[in-house]
Amino acid sequence: MQVKVITADPLKFVTPALVVGCFEDVDGTDLLERLDRGLNGVLSFLRQQKEFSGELNKVKELNTLGQMPAERVVLVGLGKRRELTAERVRQSAGTASRTLNQLGVSSCLATLPQIEGGDRFAGAVVEGMMLGSYRFDVYRTEPKERACLAELNLAAETKREAKAMALASSESRIICDAVRMARDLVSHPGNHATPAFLAEQALAIAARQGFACHVLDAKEIENLGMNGLLFVGKGSAQPPRFIIMEYHGRRQDGKPVVIVGKGITFDSGGISLKPREGMERMKDDMSGAAAVFGVMKAAAALKIPVNLVGLVPAAENMPDGGAYKPGDVVRTMSGKTVEINNTDAEGRMVLCDALHYAQRYRPSALIDLATLTGACLVALGTEASGLMGNDDGLKRALKKAGEATGERVWELPLWDEYGEAMKSDIADLKNAGGPHAGTVTAAWFLRQFVGKAKWAHLDIAGTAWEEKGRNYLPKGATGVGVRLLVDYLRGIAG
Ligand code: BES
Ligand code: MN
Ligand code: ZN
Repeated sequence: MQVKVITADPLKFVTPALVVGCFEDVDGTDLLERLDRGLNGVLSFLRQQKEFSGELNKVKELNTLGQMPAERVVLVGLGKRRELTAERVRQSAGTASRTLNQLGVSSCLATLPQIEGGDRFAGAVVEGMMLGSYRFDVYRTEPKERACLAELNLAAETKREAKAMALASSESRIICDAVRMARDLVSHPGNHATPAFLAEQALAIAARQGFACHVLDAKEIENLGMNGLLFVGKGSAQPPRFIIMEYHGRRQDGKPVVIVGKGITFDSGGISLKPREGMERMKDDMSGAAAVFGVMKAAAALKIPVNLVGLVPAAENMPDGGAYKPGDVVRTMSGKTVEINNTDAEGRMVLCDALHYAQRYRPSALIDLATLTGACLVALGTEASGLMGNDDGLKRALKKAGEATGERVWELPLWDEYGEAMKSDIADLKNAGGPHAGTVTAAWFLRQFVGKAKWAHLDIAGTAWEEKGRNYLPKGATGVGVRLLVDYLRGIAG
């Protein structure tokens, strides 16, 4: 998307759509008053009739019928003035952009919110618009009849404000491009997005952004003793890959942050087959991997001064004659043995090898993202990712990034006692606990493979996929984790 900052009077600007943010409890900003006058009092009328009151995420579109240079006005509610946050701006901009997409409008001028220091929110407006107007039609042979928002103009009052807004919006654009790329990767179906496809994408991103990328094939995975990853991939015609990305943003050889993303390109459950209903969603089981790709891309494009390593164990979990099966015992790369009691608990099997591998970097922080447990969706719904870990500072930093970006995280406990559920009669561990606390027991399992690293685990099973479509999250892949971790990295880069 193209983003421009203009200093012209919004009411004199020729555009297919003028987007105006409205508060629930303030009726007269200067712009709104002039707009009301220009449109023969329709705004006051709508407010009186309670047809549009500025309630958060409510929209109202008006055709201007030639009364002003803008063809349409899209009013969007910002909620109460004192409750305004960047997240609310992001949401209302997202809501407006989804309306623009429905109208088939490809360009707009956005002026939300009209308050003192409103330029602080330029980044949030860009994010809302870029993320809300996202669409994935790679597999449509007939082009969609309606255009997609492709050009965004932002209105600044002064030259100085324009400069600040241009900087903020260019950074947000880079980040949202990465989020959109992550969404694309998740949206690609399993027959396309195989482990080999993910590896190719990683190599392409690395080449474009100028960082290192190395891919291990099944033989190399076997030679390293990464049997967790190897076994999960055994039932598939698509052999696994282990993807390593390294970005050096700091001149000194500082210890890197290592991020790990679950890359199950399709999760059928394997021999412990999933029920048929909704199984198609399991193409999104590489959302953690997609987030890692997005973070690597954005970090390199923004030149964040950190050293960063991205690791992705990629495999497809399928049942066939070669598939791993319940009762099998796997010797993981760490040497720990795991009894498989459910082949559908495959995420932890690929992650445990990646987390063990990560230790060779002596990471300053180790963070994994995974659509790991259905139980997380049950516990937190789609509002927050599950957060667990062994380091308070790291968890605090991630919570802070979650509040700042709207990609909220919520901590679940990780007490030793939860480990009882993971004891095996014949091996060091088993891979699936009982019916209780499934999110926590999964994280407890992962913890056995992180050594002394400061580690945090993000269970994104509830947040990676949007069922209906709301604010800046259109139906489908959300790209969760990219904005969260980019914010975290910028925070530690100081
Ligand atoms: N990929 C799934 C988790 C998942 C389920 C993500 C629903 C998003 C929506 C994961 O591999 C899985 O199957 N987990 C099992 C673990 C169980 C067997 C211990 C689950 O959640 O049922
Ligand atoms: Mn599974
Ligand atoms: Zn899975």
